[in-house]
Amino acid sequence: MPETLNLKSHLNHPTFALIGSISDAEGLETYVIGGFVRDLLMYRHKDHSDIDIVTVGSGIHLAKKVALAIHPKLKVTVFKNFGTAMFRDQDVEFEFVGTRKESYRLDSRKPIVEDGTLVDDQNRRDFTINTLAISLNKDRYGEVTDPFNGMDDLESKLIRTPLDPEITFSDDPLRMMRAIRFASQLGFKIEEDTFSAISRQAERISIVSKERISEELNKIILSDMPSIGFKLLETCGLLKIILPEIQNLKGRESINGIYHKDNFYHTLEVLDRICVNTDNLWLRWSALLHDVAKPVTKRFSPALGWTFHAHNFVGEKMVPKLFDRLKLPLNEKMKFVQKMVLLHMRPIVLSEEEVTDSAVRRLLFDAGDDIDDLMTLCEADITSKNEEKVIRFLANFQLVREKLKEIEEKDAVRNFQPPVTGEMIMETFGLQPCKEIGLIKSAIKEAILEGEIHNNYDEAFGFMLGKGKELGLNPVKG
Ligand code: CTP
Repeated sequence: MPETLNLKSHLNHPTFALIGSISDAEGLETYVIGGFVRDLLMYRHKDHSDIDIVTVGSGIHLAKKVALAIHPKLKVTVFKNFGTAMFRDQDVEFEFVGTRKESYRLDSRKPIVEDGTLVDDQNRRDFTINTLAISLNKDRYGEVTDPFNGMDDLESKLIRTPLDPEITFSDDPLRMMRAIRFASQLGFKIEEDTFSAISRQAERISIVSKERISEELNKIILSDMPSIGFKLLETCGLLKIILPEIQNLKGRESINGIYHKDNFYHTLEVLDRICVNTDNLWLRWSALLHDVAKPVTKRFSPALGWTFHAHNFVGEKMVPKLFDRLKLPLNEKMKFVQKMVLLHMRPIVLSEEEVTDSAVRRLLFDAGDDIDDLMTLCEADITSKNEEKVIRFLANFQLVREKLKEIEEKDAVRNFQPPVTGEMIMETFGLQPCKEIGLIKSAIKEAILEGEIHNNYDEAFGFMLGKGKELGLNPVKG
């Protein structure tokens, strides 16, 4: 008989032993299960903020007993409908559930639940690597129970369902997204039968809430190489359902033997490249969406070949619809993504020409505090196969960065505040609100951005007087 694996020494949180001794006293068999165990066995032991506990009996009853022993006032949140209860202890959420059997109806994610054994419970879980359970009872403390060879699959880096995959995915179609998320996050392969079941059942993703789909999408985007996840989403047919805009980027059309590049693979390359330099989810989303409007703006002319005129403007407009559909936040995070999509070509265009001060000033003015993120996006966007071109671009970029720094130090236009306000203009010329005030204000801004005057009060005031004179205005004596 193979020696049983024991992970006693890894159960550091004091609550584990407490759960064990209370389970013993209550005559319950109890295990820690799920992501905590998986990550522990992969030495990927990030600090888990949630830990799943399963007991052969009532999870709610056990949670209440344990919480009471930790502190009489410790709050237990009970979800009676789901038969689960949780409390928070030292920044960790412990979630308790009784072992159960589940079956699902075809039209809903809501299961019909009955009590079951530990193996029943492991069986109804999504993947073998998530079925591993560690015993918390004293006599078996730390022992691993692995009826579905989850350990082997962890070792061979394989995502596989414990049951026939058709059943596992039909029970809960969100698991199709989870399979791909784990593949992307952990760098695992999805076992063949499991993947073909996803391809067959892709349409069933429609019964899953948008919030849950987006949660998994975000996790794919936050993985080290999101291209793994997106290629799988595309191959199995999920991408065209959940993100048709990204699906539409795929393919290379040719007219007169002239091809355009495949914008799907280009986008994925940009996304992978940006991940090396940022963990910011929204900057990563910007990389995913930067060329989203290329398919709808695509034109061919014999003189110009393929063009994607104004795809940045159209892309900016597409972002809110996409965010709204996926129930992503419609706040400043979305606005940031819109801004990145809108401006993503500006530094590149700039670096192709002579880098003038006024162009840099305008870029700084438009990008504001997001200028560094914009530069990061642009650098990731240089995916040419032509090495010489890449080197030239990156060198020009360096120049743009230096110029940005220099001009920001000199002119501080990053968060532009007009040095002469509307009130000052009204007071100087004795005006009531009128269009001349707007004209003078924007003339001052333009003069600063063009470098005709510096961004300070004295120069702006002098400029204002001149502009007022042009408009036939005279300063009132004061
Ligand atoms: N689970 C499942 N089907 C789902 C969601 C979860 O079978 N659709 C099971 C799995 O056994 C999983 C456990 O419930 O391991 C806990 O789920 P969750 O906390 O959502 O995910 P983790 O696997 O812990 O992974 P992560 O923390 O990375 O999301």
